[in-house]
Amino acid sequence: MPSSPADRDLAPPVEIVVAPYGSALYRTACVLREEVLRRPIGLALAEADTAPDAAALHLVAHAGGAVVGCVQAVSEGRAAKLRQMAVRADKRRQGLGRALVERLEAELRGRGIAEIHLNARVEALPFYERLGFLAEGPVFIDIRVPHRHMRKPLAL
Ligand SMILES: CC(C)(COP(=O)(O)OP(=O)(O)OC[C@H]1O[C@@H](n2cnc3c(N)ncnc32)[C@H](O)[C@@H]1OP(=O)(O)O)[C@@H](O)C(=O)NCCC(=O)NCCS
Repeated sequence: MPSSPADRDLAPPVEIVVAPYGSALYRTACVLREEVLRRPIGLALAEADTAPDAAALHLVAHAGGAVVGCVQAVSEGRAAKLRQMAVRADKRRQGLGRALVERLEAELRGRGIAEIHLNARVEALPFYERLGFLAEGPVFIDIRVPHRHMRKPLAL
């Protein structure tokens, strides 16, 4: 049944926050990462997936505690690697992925990071291109999925 305007008024707004490693929001985001990024390719979230997490900056989008999106960045000196970008299926194509990446860029700029790079799933290339990332090099397979490397300089 379609939700009424009154129902929509009661829905908590989506908020993007920095989630400390190990926090409740971080742990709930791991559930979303598994659901969006691993289960569809027949895998669970593995130790290799979470190994960089302790040193990463985690952004989590949530509505009243219900996690609907996440992304992280691992600092590599003057650059950072964007990883584990996921938006819950029912929240896609509403600007949430863009909002997460733009907030991540702002956080990284504030930390003096001059460039972001990432390995993009080929199906997500148009999304990153809309956000100003440029693909480079050949398609390669990583964890069963075709990817391309992408970069974006950050104006400081
Ligand atoms: C890729 C993903 C994060 C995009 O999130 P989203 O919230 O749907 O993206 P947005 O709504 O913010 O889209 C931003 C822009 O990209 C475009 N876009 C998003 N997904 C797209 C797609 N699959 N194909 C073409 N364009 C796309 C939107 O139209 C929008 O363009 P606009 O700003 O000019 O209107 C989301 O689809 C997802 O979680 N997918 C599954 C996991 C995944 O592939 N993660 C990335 C791994 S590298």
